[in-house]
Amino acid sequence: MLTPDLDLLCAPDTASALTVVPAPMAPSPELWTLATRLAPAPRRAPESVGAGPARAARPDPAQHWLGTATGIRYPVLAGIPLLLSDYAHDAAGPLGATAGIPRRELDHYSAVSLRLAADVADDPTLAELRALATVAERSGTVLDETWVDAPYDGPAQLRCYEFLRPLVRGGTAVQIGGSGTHALKFLLAGAARAVIVSPVVGELLLADAFARALGLADRLLPVAGTGEGLPLAAGSVDVLYCGGTLHHLDTARAGRQFARVLTAAGRFAAAEPWKVPLLHTAGTRLLGKRGPVDCQPIDAARLGALRGGFAGWVDDRRHGAFTRYPALALGKAGLRLPARTLLRVMLREDELDLPGAALGSSISLTGCQAPSPLTAAAGLPHARATATRAADSTETAGDLPAVSVSGERGQR
Ligand SMILES: C[S@@+](CC[C@H](N)C(=O)[O-])C[C@H]1O[C@@H](n2cnc3c(N)ncnc32)[C@H](O)[C@@H]1O
Repeated sequence: MLTPDLDLLCAPDTASALTVVPAPMAPSPELWTLATRLAPAPRRAPESVGAGPARAARPDPAQHWLGTATGIRYPVLAGIPLLLSDYAHDAAGPLGATAGIPRRELDHYSAVSLRLAADVADDPTLAELRALATVAERSGTVLDETWVDAPYDGPAQLRCYEFLRPLVRGGTAVQIGGSGTHALKFLLAGAARAVIVSPVVGELLLADAFARALGLADRLLPVAGTGEGLPLAAGSVDVLYCGGTLHHLDTARAGRQFARVLTAAGRFAAAEPWKVPLLHTAGTRLLGKRGPVDCQPIDAARLGALRGGFAGWVDDRRHGAFTRYPALALGKAGLRLPARTLLRVMLREDELDLPGAALGSSISLTGCQAPSPLTAAAGLPHARATATRAADSTETAGDLPAVSVSGERGQR
């Protein structure tokens, strides 16, 4: 973390500004545990924060500390600001607060990401990102079909990318949750800087490892935090994306945070699983869960809560009513369709706009403070969106005026 990044950060929950402050007397034992687990080689030299106050006399695993005017302090470990209430200290020591993320979930995502972060050289994701860097450089074509990576939520991701694309170049882009691949794509697509906010420090290390391998580490800021208590300054974000992570969040709180951190013209988008009444329960019984974490797809109530929290425009579109569950079933049986083929099939389904399409178990959400003339112009090639004002309704498909989400077309 470099000092210029401080303009972008704030304390979680209170949103207070942060400066470099002295270490507390007794850093929490968990910090030592985490430091040992990460076995950090400092990501950037500690002196990069400038002439900060003297460090605590006691041993301290943190590189330095960031604090609010009211005396709450957060450590920076391995170059990563830990702006989670779990790491909040006062001058004496840890406050013992918690962000309330289930331990099982944190452990699962930590284990997976730390394993991958240990050696990214041969990681297929890195190879894909390198290929996209070449595409962006040679053709300038960004955030189109080729950039989609979600195997069963491809159309949702594409619709989100197309919605965000006009604001990416030169902007500040944020990914909530995950290991930073979207934030890196936004950088490859021309964002000036990007932030990956995740409560899983292993994911942030993985993001950093990818960024280093791509030569993008100076423009990617990994921050430990949650989507419900975003440690980002008000009005600082142009583009915010959740790729399969919003459904892990308290959507009302997340919506309020999105509204706070976005610039007046800023946009958010999310590609998520959608809980189709009855079908989801039947599907989970038949196919089993997709992973060891107890995911709760977004449903009408949680979408309504997001809208209420965001209090701007939120459009939604369902995808994959006829293709997603069969594709998931085939995948479970070991028959994975090539990602590109599946995407094409699902996009075709979107285009046909068949009766029953509202039963799609994948959802794309696109939001902004108010729709611009551009968003009200024409439909995307493959998706017609519906719009509601906050609190209008929790259900949208079919019963509201159609608006488009972007004036741009995918280029393939
Ligand atoms: C199913 S994974 C999605 C991974 C993602 N598709 C990616 O790009 O790596 C769910 C993610 O939710 C994130 N998550 C869980 N609770 C969160 C919270 N309260 N705030 C932000 N992210 C959270 C975790 O970081 C985890 O990576």
